[in-house]
Amino acid sequence: MPPCSYACRRIGIIPLMQNAPNPAGAGHVDITTVLAYKGGVGKSLLAYELAYLLDAVLVDLDWDRGGVTRQWGYRHEDRMRAPLLDAFERGRTPSPLQGYRKPPLIPSHPDLATNQPPADVVADCLEQWAKEWGRPIVVDTHPGGCPTTYGAASAARVVVSPAVLATRELEATEGMLEELADYPLLMVPNKVPRVPPAAELDRLSRMVTRAGVPVAPPVSFHYWLERRKIRVAVTSYDPVPARVQPLHDELHAVAKAVTNYGRAAA
Ligand SMILES: Nc1ncnc2c1ncn2[C@@H]1O[C@H](COP(=O)(O)OP(=O)(O)OP(=O)(O)O)[C@@H](O)[C@H]1O
Ligand SMILES: [Mg+2]
Repeated sequence: MPPCSYACRRIGIIPLMQNAPNPAGAGHVDITTVLAYKGGVGKSLLAYELAYLLDAVLVDLDWDRGGVTRQWGYRHEDRMRAPLLDAFERGRTPSPLQGYRKPPLIPSHPDLATNQPPADVVADCLEQWAKEWGRPIVVDTHPGGCPTTYGAASAARVVVSPAVLATRELEATEGMLEELADYPLLMVPNKVPRVPPAAELDRLSRMVTRAGVPVAPPVSFHYWLERRKIRVAVTSYDPVPARVQPLHDELHAVAKAVTNYGRAAA
């Protein structure tokens, strides 16, 4: 059991994993979708690390550079084919790319922006791929709501949503909680500062309590992450460097919460 971080101790007023899991995800194959209505809140970081920790295939449904494809080291400009678009169009199961100390990847493509398959096609494809690969899937999504995101959310056993304790981010979170009330949401407070802002913490706490959405252990703000260029997963270090250890532990705790929630919903 990793030690509780300062964010975890200070955010204790939020009901951690206290609410009963929403049964909306029951019966689904093991798919975790990471989404948020606001950009820059940590979707891609969580998707990348959760995919690595859960031994899952990482499917990138974000078509711009904020997604995990670029971070993984894949450049669509250097490739002839677009595996994700081909897979949706022809109903074929794509082959995940393998990487060193990073999760296997189905890369995205900029044309997905104007070439969105309907939500039910996305959901069916993800379920079929998970079955054929015989392994879990973690999906990264574009900020906001769009057919690919809704499709990935409806196929998911767990929908992970990072929440940042700031006014506009919480505004977006509130709207999302209202719109996606029927989905098996799990909130992950992210970028939590050493001294969390009391008013925003209180607002998030009231929001999740009202919506009956469980909250995973939080992830602190780690200043070095914003300048990080290395592509390997943060959770792939062995031994773990001292600077990385707190984030490593927090991400393990989030992965455990996702697994427990998914088991309860299965
Ligand atoms: N806990 C954290 N502490 C510090 N920096 C973080 C943390 N989580 C994410 N970041 C940084 O914040 C930036 C945005 O994160 P990320 O790309 O994961 O967000 P996103 O929600 O996927 O963004 P987009 O909406 O653009 O796709 C990145 O530089 C990332 O390294
Ligand atoms: Mg992103």
